[in-house]
Amino acid sequence: MSKSVLERLASDEPASIERLKDWLRIPSVSTDPAHKDDVAKAASWAADRLREGGLSVEILPTGDPEGSGHPIVLGEAPGAEAYTGPHILFYGHYDVQPPDPVELWESPPFEPVIKAASDGLGERIVARGAVDDKGQVATFLESLRAWHDESGLSAGGVRMTVLLEGEEESGSVNLERFVEQHAERLGKTDVCVISDTGMLGRGRPAITYGVRGLSYTEVTLHGPNQDLHSGLWGGKVPNPLNELVKVLAQLWDADRKVTIPGFYDDVRPLEASEREGWKKLGVDEAASLASVGFGPDASVGEKGYSFIEREWARPTAEINGIWGGYTGPGAKTVIPSHASAKVSFRLVADQEPSKVRDAFFAWLRGRTPPGCRWELMDHSGGFGVTVATDSPVLAAATRALEAAGGTTPDLIKSGGSIPVAGLLKDRLGLETIFMGFGLEDDRMHSPNEKFELDCFRLGARAHVLLIGELRAMGGLA
Ligand code: BES
Ligand code: MN
Ligand code: MN
Repeated sequence: MSKSVLERLASDEPASIERLKDWLRIPSVSTDPAHKDDVAKAASWAADRLREGGLSVEILPTGDPEGSGHPIVLGEAPGAEAYTGPHILFYGHYDVQPPDPVELWESPPFEPVIKAASDGLGERIVARGAVDDKGQVATFLESLRAWHDESGLSAGGVRMTVLLEGEEESGSVNLERFVEQHAERLGKTDVCVISDTGMLGRGRPAITYGVRGLSYTEVTLHGPNQDLHSGLWGGKVPNPLNELVKVLAQLWDADRKVTIPGFYDDVRPLEASEREGWKKLGVDEAASLASVGFGPDASVGEKGYSFIEREWARPTAEINGIWGGYTGPGAKTVIPSHASAKVSFRLVADQEPSKVRDAFFAWLRGRTPPGCRWELMDHSGGFGVTVATDSPVLAAATRALEAAGGTTPDLIKSGGSIPVAGLLKDRLGLETIFMGFGLEDDRMHSPNEKFELDCFRLGARAHVLLIGELRAMGGLA
């Protein structure tokens, strides 16, 4: 039956692209309170598409006591009584990153346009959220529509629950509570499927079997009770900016290892078989560096690990922003009363975000400059996950991608984070299969974000075929 569903998908493609454009026109920026109504609009847009695919859908609050959270779209496919195979939980997010800096967009971020193939890029849809994650979720929504249109069955008759989040890009802060409150419903599912990751190149489908975790903090160092004249006070009292950068510079040793005691204690070591497997993937390090304006000499990181190992298997520490004192035009001589930085840690499987945060804060306190005081704040975080690669659903996804793309999918990892996966594993024991369709040059989170139509097509076909594989696993012809 998959074959006729694929044919229907193909003939419906022009309409499916128009649908995606409609969704992309809604500026669902979750981090900006000014867009609260737009986020809600994007949620009900998705709920309508799920209903058209035959699902029963609810738009639920996250349970955030302040009511500032964005809704979760929860759908369930009815009519799967005859099905005996695995129950899939599909997760995606309908919120997007802010479009800033808006002046760098070649076309307005929320006015999606199709651009013809050019400069080594394929024909593509350009808009904020094109690849992260509306375009990728749309590949799944279109597969549901095609199956429903063709078979009359919701999700082709397989057991399916759909969870679409509106706060992923702002840290999934309310998701933990939601998962706990709906543990019974979500816990009925067997495995999560997410399309929110990438591939190693055009025409190279991939399954991502691990993403990193994250611990994100904001630290402020307070010094004098007022800004001071740097001529009168500099050199005889602590300058919080000087002291902050001196402390933060100690985060890395000469081998670029993070110096916080215990930081590597829970890190799952890189297996020899992974190291070998990754070498065979033929990742073009020089091309990857060149795509962001670097020469080969810029390949720096933790000693003893390769370019790809540093991203996929090792934890890191990053300063994301640092500020204080005078940053306006011209010169102002000043010792600021305080200085701040946003410091985050990418984590790998088995590292606990809260443990890393506590270790970092203790490390800072042990380095408090004389006369100064820390103000330490925790932002969002999430666990890293590494997925077993020998599960039956992962094998089914591999077959689906193979049939959709005409070539065996790469088994890859990613350095990015998707908080829900760690939560589902921790709270419900669910494994996740990341079946994503992005490309390295899609400009995720940047101006001129795009999703290539070949990737959109591959994704929709793969989801159609995955449902076909699941049907076969569950006794449906
Ligand atoms: N889809 C990305 C994460 C991603 C991208 C994973 C490419 C693998 C490959 C997701 O929307 C994202 O941006 N996540 C944030 C998480 C944070 C806001 C908690 C990240 O990784 O920084
Ligand atoms: Mn995403
Ligand atoms: Mn993102």
